[in-house]
Amino acid sequence: MTAVEMNREGDVAVLLINNPPVNALSHAVRMGLKLGLEFADGSGAKAVVIAGQGGTFIAGADIKEFGQPPKEPGLGDVIDLIEACSIPVVAAIEGNTLGGGLEVALGCHYRIANVKARVGLPEVTLGILPGAGGTQRLPRLIDAPEALAMITSGAPIDGRKAKAIGLVDEIIEGNCVEAAIAYAHSIADKPFDDRRLSKRELSLSKVISLQFEGVDAQIIKRARGAIAPLKAAECVKAAYTLPYPEGIAKERETFIELVASDQSKALRHIFFAERAAAKAPSDVSGTPRDVASVGIIGGGTMGGGIAMTFADAGIPVTIIEMSDEASKRGIAMMEKNWQRSAARGRISEKDVETRMALVTGSTSYDSLKDADLIIEAVFETMAIKKDVFGKIDAVAKPGAVLASNTSYLDINEIAASTSRPRDVLGMHYFSPANIMRLLEIVRTDETADDALLTALAIAKRTRKNAVVAGVCHGFIGNRMLTPYARQAGLLLLEGASPEQVDSALTKFGFAMGVFSVGDLAGLDIGYKSRKDRQLEPHEVRVSLIADRLVEAGHLGQKSGSGYYLYDKETRARSENPAATDIINAVREELGITPRAIDENEIIQRTQFALINEGAHILAEGIAQRSSDIDVVYNHGYAYPRWRGGPMHYGDSVGLKIVADAVVKFAEGDGALFWKPAPLLLELAENKMTFSEHDRHNQ
Ligand code: CAA
Repeated sequence: MTAVEMNREGDVAVLLINNPPVNALSHAVRMGLKLGLEFADGSGAKAVVIAGQGGTFIAGADIKEFGQPPKEPGLGDVIDLIEACSIPVVAAIEGNTLGGGLEVALGCHYRIANVKARVGLPEVTLGILPGAGGTQRLPRLIDAPEALAMITSGAPIDGRKAKAIGLVDEIIEGNCVEAAIAYAHSIADKPFDDRRLSKRELSLSKVISLQFEGVDAQIIKRARGAIAPLKAAECVKAAYTLPYPEGIAKERETFIELVASDQSKALRHIFFAERAAAKAPSDVSGTPRDVASVGIIGGGTMGGGIAMTFADAGIPVTIIEMSDEASKRGIAMMEKNWQRSAARGRISEKDVETRMALVTGSTSYDSLKDADLIIEAVFETMAIKKDVFGKIDAVAKPGAVLASNTSYLDINEIAASTSRPRDVLGMHYFSPANIMRLLEIVRTDETADDALLTALAIAKRTRKNAVVAGVCHGFIGNRMLTPYARQAGLLLLEGASPEQVDSALTKFGFAMGVFSVGDLAGLDIGYKSRKDRQLEPHEVRVSLIADRLVEAGHLGQKSGSGYYLYDKETRARSENPAATDIINAVREELGITPRAIDENEIIQRTQFALINEGAHILAEGIAQRSSDIDVVYNHGYAYPRWRGGPMHYGDSVGLKIVADAVVKFAEGDGALFWKPAPLLLELAENKMTFSEHDRHNQ
C-alpha cells in the first residue's frame, strides 16, 4: 500500500492520502506528498487536488512520532512545497481535518469542504500548538477573533461554519473529492499568486489590537494552569507584528519547547490512555450483542441523564417509573434540559423533537420485554436493587444485557440474585450522566464476554469514555475518593482551613476543591451514608466536622452555608464564621493543637492518597492499567488533564518520592489511614514507573 496514491483526472493530478485509520501525517505520508507534488508539478497537469481516502482528509500529525528523532521532510517543509507549487492546489476537506491536516489545507491555494467536515486545530489539547505554519497562516485567512478561538480552544468547527468565517472557498453536500476535482478544473488557468497565504501582509491595526485586549485573562481563566493556549495566543499575535519568516521561527521555537514539556507528555499520555481503556480486555473475545432499544429503571436525575445519552445517540429508550406522575416529571425534566441546549444553540428545535420522540415512559416492567439492554438506576440499597433485578429478570428477553448503575454495591451479589448472572454487569455513570464522559463498566466474576463487549460498544456509540473495572466497594473512582477526602478532612482537623485546602487544589488544577464540591453536592448526602454504616472510631473522628455542620443546618449551597457562606444573589463564597467555630470546637474536643500546614503538604497528602489507593486497585486487578485510573479521574472527577491523571502525576513526581512520603505518613497514628501499597513500594524500589508497569503487563 502506498501512503499517497497519484492519479490523473483530465488536467488535474489527484494525490490521495491512504493511511488508515485517520490519515495521520506519518513520515510515509509526508514523503508521498512531496514526491506526488514534484511529479504533478512537472507532469503537465494544470492543477492538483489533495484528498484523503475513506472520508477523512487528514486528522493531524502522527502523534506516535512525537518525541522521536525528526525524519525529513518535516511537515512545515511539505506545506511550503505545496504553497510554492507552480500550479494551483485544491484541498478536498472532508471528515476529520485536524491539526497538521488543516495546516496542509492552509498551504493549499483553494479549499473545498463537505458541510459535515470537522475542521480544527486541536493541538492545545495535546499541550502543543500548530507547528507547521498554522498560527501564522490562519490569521492571514480569517479574522483575528476566529483564528484566536480556533487555535487557543482547540475546538473543531463544521464545514458550514468554516465557510461562514472564510476558511474555505466552497462547501458541498456530496462527494468532496469529485467536487474538488471539478473545482480544480474551473480555476486551473486563473492566476493564484495572492492565494499563497504566507505572502499576505498583516499588520496590527487598532481594531485588531482591541480584539486582543483581555484575551490573555480569558485564556488563563479557561486554561486552569495549562500553558499551551497562552503560548499559542502569543504566536497568533506575532502574526500581526512580525514578518512571516520571523513569525514562523517563533512558532517553531515555541512548538519545540512545548512538545518537550511535561504538560504535553501528560496530555499525550491521556489521549492514548483513553483509547487503550476503551478496548476489550485481552482475555475477552467474541462480538457485541445488538442493541436496538434500551430500558432504564428510574427516571430521576441519574436515570433521566442516562436516558438522555441514549436518545442523544438516536437509540430508543423506555423509562420505568413507579407512577405516571413521576414518569411525566422525569421526561419533562429531560425535555427542559434539551430545550436549554437548544436555547444555547447546541442543538436545534428539531433535534429536541427527534430526541423526545425516542423516549417512552411507562410504569410497567412488561414494557421492557423487547429491550436489548436494561439499566437500573434506582435507590442505592441492596434490597431495593435485588427486588428490581428480580422484576427485570422476570420480563427481559433472553440475551438482554442487564446493568446496574450502582456506585458502590457488590454487583456479584446482585448478579447472583438473578437467573442469568452472565448477562449482568455494572454501568456506572457519573452525574449529570448526559454531560459527564466517564462510564465505569463493572465486570463481575460471571459476566459473559459478549455482554462486556456490548457495554463497551454502547459506550462508544453514546460517546462515553469507557473504563472496565472489577467489583469492589466504590470500584475505581469512588474507592479512591475515600482516602483522598479523608486526608482533606484530617488536614482540617490538624490546622488547615477549608479555603486553604481548596485553594491548593485549584492551584494544582482542579476545577473545585474538595470542600467546595461537598458544599455543592450537599453535605447531608455524606452524612446520611455515614449514619447508615457502622464507622470505625478513626472514621468518626475525621468526619466530626462534617457531621456537626450538618447537625447545625449548614448543608452546603442549598442552605446558603456549609464549609463556606454563600451570597444569596451571586452565590459568591466567603468564610463561614459558624464553620470556623465548629472546626475550632472539634479540634479542642479532640485535643488537637492546630499547626501551620503548607500547600506542598496539602498536595502530597491528598494526591499521594489517590496514588496509593490506585496502586492497591491496580495490584488487585480492579483496574487493568494505571492509565485506566487516569482516565477515570480525568472524566469522572475533573482531574487536571494537563497533569495526565493521578498515576501519571505519581510517575512525573517520581514513585520513590511518593513511596517514601506514604511510608512516612503511615507512621504512628497515620497507620489508621495509610496502608502503603506493596506495588507502589516495589515499583519505587525497582526505579520503575506505573507506565512501565502497564507496558510490562500488556
Ligand atoms: N496520530 C496517530 N494516531 C492517531 C491520531 C494521530 N493524530 N489520531 C488518531 N489516531 C489513532 C488512535 O490512537 C486510534 O488508534 P488505535 O485504534 O490503535 O487505538 C485510531 O487512530 C482511531 O482513533 P479514535 O479511536 O480516536 O477514532 P475516532 O473515530 O473516535 O476519532 C479523531 C478520530 C477525531 C481523529 C481522534 O482520533 C482524534 O481526535 N485524533 C487526534 C487529532 C489531533 O489531535 N490532531 C492534531 C495532531 S497534532 C498536530 O497535527 C501538530 C502539528 O501541527 C504538526
